[in-house]
Amino acid sequence: MDTLTAIFTRHSTRAFGAKRVSDADLRRVLAAGMSAPVGRSRYDTLHLSVIRNAALIEDLQTYAKSVLPPQSRPDAPLYNCNTLILVSSVMQSDAPAIEYANVGAVMTNMAIASTALGIDSIWLWGFLRVLSPELIARLGLPAGHIPISALGIGYAADSQGVAATEFSKPRHAIDVTYLD
Ligand SMILES: Cc1cc2nc3c(=O)[nH]c(=O)nc-3n(C[C@H](O)[C@H](O)[C@H](O)COP(=O)(O)O)c2cc1C
Repeated sequence: MDTLTAIFTRHSTRAFGAKRVSDADLRRVLAAGMSAPVGRSRYDTLHLSVIRNAALIEDLQTYAKSVLPPQSRPDAPLYNCNTLILVSSVMQSDAPAIEYANVGAVMTNMAIASTALGIDSIWLWGFLRVLSPELIARLGLPAGHIPISALGIGYAADSQGVAATEFSKPRHAIDVTYLD
């Protein structure tokens, strides 16, 4: 799949089936994340955690579901996803908020690479905001790292949830001002 087709067809999946992403494809997705631009080239401030432990994912799902407001989707907030790539960062006080931009760049590269590989994905933010200190400790992050986003990857449970393979225009609109 060419890059523009991957960009135009990436979409959120919120109902995953049991099929797991292969280790080879997982490595490609991680490599795409590592290829993202990062402010001041501070790749050392970032960390990727691959979470595939079913018991841990179940505990994250159960806890977050219990404290988040009721959701319409039954499998929220992790949507039955069996592979999570958590992106965490050290907070950089000399460049406030740059870590969020960095994590966004890594996440976007991984999401688009996933689409190019035929893998479905979901960007997860909400469940990380409500985790208990005990669950955050179980993530085993390096000292000083804050979990900022997670990409859930896998295969949609229902193929009807997969978007068409090509779009001639963006699926969402953002206002544009041209200063000619
Ligand atoms: C920073 C960020 C946080 C997000 N957090 C969540 C989340 O916690 N749960 C969720 O279901 N979707 C989450 N999303 C996915 C967005 O809701 C989704 O990208 C948006 O509705 C557009 O739909 P699309 O991805 O299908 O194009 C997040 C996306 C971004 C960029």
